Amino acid sequence: MPRAAGCPFDPPPALRALRAQAPVTRVRLWDGSYPWLVTRYADQRALLADPRLSSDSRLPGFPHENAGMRARRRVGRTFVNMDDPEHARLRRMVTAPFMIKRVEALRPAIQRLVDDLIDQMLAGPHPVDLVQAFALPVPSLVIGHLLGVPYTDHGFFQRTSKVLINRNTSADVAGHAQETLTDYLDRLIADKLAHPADDLLSRLAVERVSTGELSQRELAVMGSLLLIAGHETTANMIALGTLALLQHPDQLAELRASTDRVLISSTVEELLRYLTIVHSGRRRVALADIEIDQQVIRAGEGVILATESGDRDEQAFTDPDTLDLLRDARAHVAFGFGVHQCLGQPLARVELQVVYGTLFRRIPTLRLATDLTDIPFKNDAGVYGVYELPVTWSTPPSETP
Ligand code: HEM
Repeated sequence: MPRAAGCPFDPPPALRALRAQAPVTRVRLWDGSYPWLVTRYADQRALLADPRLSSDSRLPGFPHENAGMRARRRVGRTFVNMDDPEHARLRRMVTAPFMIKRVEALRPAIQRLVDDLIDQMLAGPHPVDLVQAFALPVPSLVIGHLLGVPYTDHGFFQRTSKVLINRNTSADVAGHAQETLTDYLDRLIADKLAHPADDLLSRLAVERVSTGELSQRELAVMGSLLLIAGHETTANMIALGTLALLQHPDQLAELRASTDRVLISSTVEELLRYLTIVHSGRRRVALADIEIDQQVIRAGEGVILATESGDRDEQAFTDPDTLDLLRDARAHVAFGFGVHQCLGQPLARVELQVVYGTLFRRIPTLRLATDLTDIPFKNDAGVYGVYELPVTWSTPPSETP
């Protein structure tokens, strides 16, 4: 479904019409299948918490986004596409470093990293592309550090991730890209087994692979999930969120003038809700008949939960199409809901809080260096964002950190 011209932050208008007239309805997919599309917030929360919906991508009826995603899931199925208890067993192995307390301890290091990247931007020429200079390096450096993946290889995994989440990637190319990334991590894990360091992959290699609980390949597949999920989404939120704030100068002025942790954290939640960047729908398949909104989803049928629509549902949020940094948006479904709710959300929150709380304070005159109409939006990717964001500022730009 296309977004409306001139409204790059709003979900496709067809979703609003469905919410009003046919909130649980059949849609036709690329492969000729007819899964259900669910557009209302309350239905989405009810279904995402319902164990009768499965995330198992091997089941017939699972509504794959395209041939590329189907191939990728065949080559490297991760716990996102498993059900409990298998899902819970694997997820538990990697939960600890993403817990709020552990992530909060990283805040000072993330702050230093953000300040360093801003220093480098200010010292270089401008206009500059904020995606390359800032939005990609922040999450890439953070997740690389956590996992123990050398930043010198970031070009490789950014290119791979771009291929993997592009809607037009063919099955062959996606399967090959997933293999290449898994091979890379496999070699890295072998090295960590021989020379363990203080990072998550080393710890899992020693504690789970050496003990035979996970094979080296299984850990490599899990590592590829964390690497891609950990940088692609957050990078898009940084760039698209910055653009959305620049387009709302009055609210941005208040944010810029404030160091209030509460305002910064509500800004992050509201931008997550307003943008709901993982706009490919949560994908599931029914294990039993489920009655919802006067429809019956039969066992074996696919279900797509369009959370970008749920987060704009007027029955869940007042005036949902307005960006309002002061609203309490914490109940959004931008991180999903239920057992598969985003594992990395505490980390994403800290990164985004540090970014939005620092960037506009350090560069108060930050502005777009091109027209909004010239910005290339990621309409062809499963995670929404911008490919480039040329920005500039007036000199002298800022106070020191
Ligand atoms: C703003 C940034 C982020 C957004 C919007 C986001 C969004 C999501 C969403 C919507 C899901 C649910 C998938 C489903 O139900 O099918 C998810 C799951 C997941 N996310 Fe995130 N994510 C973000 C950042 C991160 C980070 C930093 C990590 C760190 C590694 C991460 C790791 C994961 C993992 C491992 C899962 C699978 C959880 C499971 O299946 O149990 N994400 N994310």
